[in-house]
Amino acid sequence: MFKAAIMGFGTVGSGVYEVLDRNADVVAKNARDAIEVKYILDLRDFPDAPHQEKFIKDFSIIENDPEVSIVAETMGGKGAAYEFTKRCLLAGKHVVTSNKELVATHGAELLNIAKESGVNYMFEASVGGGIPIIRPMLQCLTANHMTHVTGILNGTTNYILTRMIDAGLTFETALKEAQEKGYAEANPAADVDGIDACRKICILSDIAYGDHIHPEYVETEGISKITLEDVSYAAQADCVVKLLGRAVLNEDGSIYAFVAPHLVSKKSPLADVDDVFNAILITGDMLGDAMFYGQGAGKLATASAVVADIIDCARHNEHRRMVSWGDGSKNLVRPLDSFA
Ligand code: HSE
Repeated sequence: MFKAAIMGFGTVGSGVYEVLDRNADVVAKNARDAIEVKYILDLRDFPDAPHQEKFIKDFSIIENDPEVSIVAETMGGKGAAYEFTKRCLLAGKHVVTSNKELVATHGAELLNIAKESGVNYMFEASVGGGIPIIRPMLQCLTANHMTHVTGILNGTTNYILTRMIDAGLTFETALKEAQEKGYAEANPAADVDGIDACRKICILSDIAYGDHIHPEYVETEGISKITLEDVSYAAQADCVVKLLGRAVLNEDGSIYAFVAPHLVSKKSPLADVDDVFNAILITGDMLGDAMFYGQGAGKLATASAVVADIIDCARHNEHRRMVSWGDGSKNLVRPLDSFA
C-alpha cells in the first residue's frame, strides 16, 4: 500500500481525492498496489468533506511521516507551494503537481533537488489539464527537432472566445460562465491577460529546447481587448480569434516564445478547438505535425493527469531521469519573418 498526501484541497486537489477514490480499482491495478491518501493539507475547513480525520493544517506532519512517499501539490502559487515542495523532495518524497506557475519559475531547481534526492518531480497536469503532452514530448518526440510548438493553452480564454463567437456573449458574461464552471484561476486576470498561457508555453519550450525561459521575458498579450467587432471581422476573413502560445526554433538555433491573440484560418485544426478544450500542435522536423487535443481545464480532467503521475511514481519508486533543463534564462530571438 502506498501512502500519499494532497496539499491543497481546491478544485484540482479535491479532484485528485475523487479520482483516487472512484477509480481505486484501476489505480491499484496500474500502480501494482493500492494508493491511500493519508493526509490532506489545507488551512481552510471542509466540514462537508468525508474523512475529516485526514485533514491537517501543519505541513510538518507530512514532511516527518516516513510512510508518506508521494505528495500531490495542488495548492498553486509559488510561496508556500515552493517551500513545501522543496522540503518534500529533500525529505525523499516524490512530488507531483498541476502548479504551472511553480514549474515555469522554479522547475529547473526543483528537478535538480529531486534528482539529488533520488525522487521524482512530475508535472503532466501543469500544461493542457488532462491532455497527455509532457510525456509524449519527453518520450515519443525525442528524435525530432521540434521546430514549432503552438498551443491553445488556456481553457478559460478559449471558452470565452468560443462563447463570444458562437453565442454573441459579451466578454464579461462569458468569463462569469467560465468561473462558474470552475475553469478560471482564483484570480482570472491570470487567464484573460495570457499569464497562465505564458507559463505553459514556457514549460513546453523548456522541454522542447532544454533551456529555461523565464515567463517574465516572454511577450504576452491576453484577450481582454478582444471585442465582438473583432470576432465578426475575423469571421468575414474566414478566421476565428484564438489565444495562442507559441515557441519557435529559429534556423540559427535560437528560440522565440510569445503569447498573443491570433486570427486562425477556419481550415486550421486549431480553429475547431472550442470551449474549454486545449490543443497543442507540435511540428517535428521528422514527424511533421502532431496535435494533442482534450480537456484543458476542469476538476476531474486535470486530476486524472495528477493521478497518472502518482501512479507513475508508485510504479517506478526510484528517481527516473524525467527531464531537466538549464536554469539560466535563454535569450529570446524574434525570427526574421514576423508572425503577422
Ligand atoms: N485556468 C486554467 C485554464 C486552468 O483555464 O486553462 C488549467 O490550467
